[in-house]
Formats: sequence, structure tokens, C-alpha cells
Amino acid sequence: MEQLIDPFHRPISYLRVSVTDRCDFRCVYCMSENMTFLPKKELLTLEELDRLCSAFVGMGVEKLRITGGEPLVRKDILTFFRSMSRHLDSGALKELTLTTNGSQLERFVKPLYEAGVRRVNVSADTLDDEKFARITRWGRLPQVMRGIDAAQAAGMRVKLNAVALKGFNEDELLSITEWCASRDIDLTWIEVMPMGDIGNEMRIDQYWKLSDLRARLAEHYTLTELSERTGGPARYVRLEESGQKIGFITPLTHNFCESCNRVRLTCTGELYMCLGQEDMADLRAPLRNHPDSDAPLEDAIRAAIGRKPKGHDFDYSRQSVDGRVSRHMSHTGG
Ligand code: GTP
Ligand code: 5AD
Ligand code: SF4
Repeated sequence: MEQLIDPFHRPISYLRVSVTDRCDFRCVYCMSENMTFLPKKELLTLEELDRLCSAFVGMGVEKLRITGGEPLVRKDILTFFRSMSRHLDSGALKELTLTTNGSQLERFVKPLYEAGVRRVNVSADTLDDEKFARITRWGRLPQVMRGIDAAQAAGMRVKLNAVALKGFNEDELLSITEWCASRDIDLTWIEVMPMGDIGNEMRIDQYWKLSDLRARLAEHYTLTELSERTGGPARYVRLEESGQKIGFITPLTHNFCESCNRVRLTCTGELYMCLGQEDMADLRAPLRNHPDSDAPLEDAIRAAIGRKPKGHDFDYSRQSVDGRVSRHMSHTGG
């Protein structure tokens, strides 16, 4: 089947699937404390998600990342991973992976590995118990650490995703770096994006430019730019002294949209063509209205990719928040 190509000649090979909008944490930059979640009956079933993802794989998607909310709180999620692993076996899919807050990881690691997951991205912005509890509101760091330990023991590669937050984890730049080196964990820093109604003043106050973070890192390490890519938006450097790899995801200071290869599916079957835009396509109707044929679904997917925008409009440069999108990060899973 013809490969999915967007209007800017970018091949779409990466699908991120949010399997639930729920989460057992309430990270302050991501959610409000009293979130209203979708009624369960609105969710696509795991069979429907399977059919959707399989359609994308049939159209050339090679990397599938399961996200949320927190993907491991979705009931029976292992059934879905096990079922998706058939696309790894066939060779159509190159990578099946997930981004998780780590809270449930310990008990899921083994079956995930058996389903073909070899790499896991764990979100944690601090290695201090008290600060972790503060930033996630409901999270507990030791539980996440047990998940990381279990993942490494099972032979998975672990990447820590940390959102760079001014006045919050600036003081941990070196300690987080050293901890990751000592544990052989990859580390990626992310610039905070204006998503969801969290308060615009707060975003600007929170924003710690990765160009600054990088300059500070360069005071202590020799940084070598790497050309390797994981298929995600991060750009990597190697710290010569420790040999470790550090990633930077810089939607604000350096836009990477020109190489965008991904789209996002929500747990209700909405397809977002860009994380930073409001436009989406409903795939639930063509899926449900045509149980015996995928043709209408494939047409809807092609039509959606045909209007993938050039990029996001996030911008803090005028000391104000521009390009904000109304939905929370948990809606599309980052
Ligand atoms: P790797 O496969 O490890 O490279 O993963 P990844 O960076 O694609 O996925 P991950 O879930 O670790 O992404 C980390 C964060 O990067 C996401 O949660 C988002 O916050 C951000 N991100 C990922 N893709 C995009 C994108 O297309 N645009 C923007 N602005 N941010 C993105
Ligand atoms: N800006 C940047 N990253 C965010 N995340 C959640 N909300 C935001 C935001 N507003 C991160 C989480 C996790 C990933 C899924 O997205 O910390 O690493
Ligand atoms: Fe949950 Fe992730 Fe949002 Fe934190 S950032 S509340 S862990 S979805």
C-alpha cells in the first residue's frame, strides 16, 4: 500500500496512541487537580484500537508508542500489547514501546518484554522524593524507581524524560545527569509547552530554555553533537567525560517540526495531526460504521494526513504565551 506522505513531503511512520486520558498522577504542568475524564463508554475498545493501529501499520507506520494519560492504568492493556506484537513478528513494525510515569511499571515489565517491548520512556522531573510528590501531586518516587529497576533487570533500555522547569529542577541538572550515567539510563530534557488551561503566567515562570540548560551542562562536560535519531523529536549530544547520551526536545527554542514524522490517536479515535494544533479527524465513525471493510477508514486516514499542518505555533518570545492549545497533554499523550 502507498506510504503516508503529508503535504510537506514528510513520510508518516510514527503513531502515538493514547489508550486512556486517565492518570494516577496529577503533574502540576500537565493536569489540574480536578480533571474530568471521559466516560468509559466513550473509549474505543481494545479491539477497535487494534483495528485502527493495524490499519496504520498497513499504511507504513513502523513505530508505535503507547501513551496516555498513563497507559498502564488502562484495563487489560497487556492484551493490546500482546496483540500488537504480531506486527513486530511480521516485520511490519520496527518498534513497539510506551511512555509511562512508571507507577505501575514494576508489575508490567515482564509481560511487556514478552510482548516485544525493548525500550521504555519514563517521565520523572526530579530524583528528590519530596519534590517528586509535590510536582506529581499524587506520585511517589520509590514506586517509580522500583519500576525502573525492574525494567533494567528485564533487559529493557530506559530513557528518563524530564521537563525542564525553572526554579524546580535547575539545581538537579548535574545530579540527574550523574545518576543517569551511573545507571546507564538515557536522559532527555523537554521544554514545557503551553497545553491545557494551567494559567499562562505559570507557563512563563516555569519555562527553562534548553539552550540555557545546555550551556550550563557545557560548563561541566564536553558536548559532542550526535547525528543519530530514534525517530522522535529529540536531538542528542554525547558527554565525552561520561560517554552518556543526552537528548533535548526543544519545541520553543528550536523548532523541529520540519522533520515531523508522527501523528497522534486518542482513546476515542480522534487523530491529531499535530501536537500543537487544534485540528483533528474523527476515525471512530469510519471504523464503527464499516465493521467489515477498512477502505473507508483508510480513506479517512489519508484525508487527515493530507491536511497535516506545517507545525505548531508555540511561542513565548514576547513574554507572553502564544500558540496555546486548549487540550491537556494527557489527551494526546505528548
Ligand atoms: P524516542 O522514541 O525515545 O525518541 O521518544 P519520543 O521523544 O518520540 O517520545 P517521548 O514519549 O519520550 O516524547 C517525549 C516528549 O516529547 C513528549 O511527551 C512530548 O512532550 C514531546 N514531543 C514528542 N513529539 C513531539 C512533537 O511532535 N512536537 C512537540 N512539540 N513535542 C513533541
Ligand atoms: N510540556 C512539556 N511536556 C509535558 N509533559 C506533560 N505536560 C507537558 C507540557 N505542558 C510531559 C510529561 C511526559 C510526557 C508525556 O509529556 O512529563 O514526559
Ligand atoms: Fe499523568 Fe503524565 Fe500528565 Fe503527569 S505528565 S499527570 S504522569 S499524564
